[in-house]
Amino acid sequence: MIDRIEALRAQAEAEIAAASSSEELERLRVHHLGRRAELPQLLRGVAQLPSEERGSVGQAANRARQELEALIERRAGELDAAELQRSLREDAVDVTLPGAPPEPTGRLHVLSATRRELEDVFLGLGFTVIEGPEVETVHYNFDALNHSPTHPARARTDTFYAGPDTVLRTHTSPMQIRAMEAKPPPLYVVIPGRVYRPDSDATHTPQFHQIEGLAVDEDITMADLKGTLLVFAQELFGSEREVRLRPHFFPFTEPSVEVDVSCFHCSGAGYLRDGSRCYLCKGEGWLEVLGAGEVDPNVYSYIATTEANAPGYDPERVQGFAWGMGIERIAMLKHGIPDLRLYYENDLRFLEQLG
Ligand code: PHE
Repeated sequence: MIDRIEALRAQAEAEIAAASSSEELERLRVHHLGRRAELPQLLRGVAQLPSEERGSVGQAANRARQELEALIERRAGELDAAELQRSLREDAVDVTLPGAPPEPTGRLHVLSATRRELEDVFLGLGFTVIEGPEVETVHYNFDALNHSPTHPARARTDTFYAGPDTVLRTHTSPMQIRAMEAKPPPLYVVIPGRVYRPDSDATHTPQFHQIEGLAVDEDITMADLKGTLLVFAQELFGSEREVRLRPHFFPFTEPSVEVDVSCFHCSGAGYLRDGSRCYLCKGEGWLEVLGAGEVDPNVYSYIATTEANAPGYDPERVQGFAWGMGIERIAMLKHGIPDLRLYYENDLRFLEQLG
């Protein structure tokens, strides 16, 4: 019996010394000292032995087990240290190596960049940026903006109807009404957003973008409108720019104007240094950029006075001006973009040059 114990111990010792990984060592521990292994079984059977053998066999088996346990523990320490060293070596990162080439960073779409540029100009003048619904009621899109019941813009050929009384907004002007309903004067807001009209060719797309502006306060005149738009023109197109107002008609402004900016390509001359006609302004010296006007006093009659906007908009007390500009058109002029459709084709060769 004692011989058997010694043989088991010798074999286990040899195997433990040769173990080359902590997994293998764990397998050996189970094999030699686990519940079903021979040595522990032997120990459990000691009680059944004749009394004169019990002491010596029990002692030998116990010692063998303790020594093997100690041996395993020591070997485990050695293997763990070796494995740690190996993984430190293998997982080492050479921080001096150059990184993977960086992904090219994206950029804003030219229309987003232009919108932000415009917003910044008007924020600097004290306006607040607000937004509104793209599906709009006929009331806000036309009626409350003083369009006569027979105004041609209401036709199904000029406007996308989403229902009998709802349209895809044809301009951002409906937010003039919503803004005046929501807040008392003084009011200085700009409203960027998408608008929709059933047109499609080189200079028209069914969906495009506008920035609307509205200022309502006491003692506002056309001079304030002109000064505001002059700042915009100089910020966007250069400090030499001038603005020119031409009479026009919009149902919700009176007087109404179309606003031209002096051409930045030929400095307003209409022709270039070599004597040829300026292609940008077509020899005019002026570029038409937007529609504007003084808020028609009749528009205020559509604004109910409520808790939200008390004391309300009294046309005897307040005046205002408004304008609406197309973001596509501003960016086209600024960057010399020849065809509106380029904005929406997602051709990176075009988009990467701008924005
Ligand atoms: N809403 C007009 C358009 O889309 C532009 C405009 C806005 C004109 C505000 C005057 C005042 O053409």
